[in-house]
Amino acid sequence: MSFVAIAGTSGYVGQATVQAFAKAFPKVTVKAGVRDPSAEKAQSLKAGDNIQLTKIDMNDAENMKAEFKNADAVYIITPGHIDRTKITIGAIDAAKAAGAKYIVVVSFPTAHSDSCFGKQIGPVEDHLKASGVAYAILRLPMFIDNFWGLAAGIKGDNKIYAPVKPEAAYCPIAVEDIGLASATILANPEKHQNKIYTLTSAKNISHAEIAKVFSDALGRQIDYVQVPYEAAQKAFMDIGLPEWQAAGVMELYKYVDAGDKMVTTPTSDFKDITGNDPKGFKEWLEPVKGAF
Ligand SMILES: NC(=O)c1ccc[n+]([C@@H]2O[C@H](COP(=O)([O-])OP(=O)(O)OC[C@H]3O[C@@H](n4cnc5c(N)ncnc54)[C@H](OP(=O)(O)O)[C@@H]3O)[C@@H](O)[C@H]2O)c1
Repeated sequence: MSFVAIAGTSGYVGQATVQAFAKAFPKVTVKAGVRDPSAEKAQSLKAGDNIQLTKIDMNDAENMKAEFKNADAVYIITPGHIDRTKITIGAIDAAKAAGAKYIVVVSFPTAHSDSCFGKQIGPVEDHLKASGVAYAILRLPMFIDNFWGLAAGIKGDNKIYAPVKPEAAYCPIAVEDIGLASATILANPEKHQNKIYTLTSAKNISHAEIAKVFSDALGRQIDYVQVPYEAAQKAFMDIGLPEWQAAGVMELYKYVDAGDKMVTTPTSDFKDITGNDPKGFKEWLEPVKGAF
């Protein structure tokens, strides 16, 4: 029976990964690491008998070394924090020092680009590759589930607001699919040695097309409204994103607007890893459409 330790589990990616382990890999023992196991947001991580909610603090090297000891695989879910370069590199070093046999790290398709997120994560990828430990890098594009943040506009006035041109297309991924791909890799490291994967939906979709998917699913007209970048950044900050992160998201939208291949190139990686087709907006929306 293998043992996987995860750091940073209480966000979108960790929750989905733990659910996938509970459902599809019940024989793998998983330490679901959070800074505060008693926190309300951590309780849903108790998803199955194979999941152990554990205190893992990415700012505490000694704690990480103890919790990662002899892990068959360590999953470091890069936190959405301004110091994530240092935090994630520290977690890689702790996993290596603990004798972890395999390390998986969350990265972005814009790694190494001249953007805030690209500059944050590029050195993390380089550090992992140079660590001497077998690894996989999971580059994640924007999440389909970010549309939960647009629910009020869709529900309230039948509008989707974003700064990109209506026809600018990109290939976001559903969080549930990230969880399944992550768990599949971590449960079978021997098949995924020293790989860089970019998990995307199967084809590009524009915001005009997304509005049509919502209209068809909800049975009422949903319109896409392009807003200025400054207004979009302010809206993200109003719902709680720090300025560096809201500005970073605007950079991603600008890459989409420009048709940059970093964010507009669907891959077959999800299907190659899991054997399944990735969810598009239609499949993602159907079971949750009542919330919109
Ligand atoms: N939303 C998107 O479209 C998108 C797309 C691509 C990539 N990403 C990135 O993917 C990563 C994972 O996203 P996510 O939503 O699953 O996670 P997240 O909520 O941004 O971060 C993961 C976890 O890290 C822990 N954490 C946060 N700050 C920390 C700190 N200073 N020290 C130690 N731990 C800290 C938190 O867990 P505890 O508080 O429980 O410790 C948090 O739940 C993030 O870097 C995110 O920016 C997001």
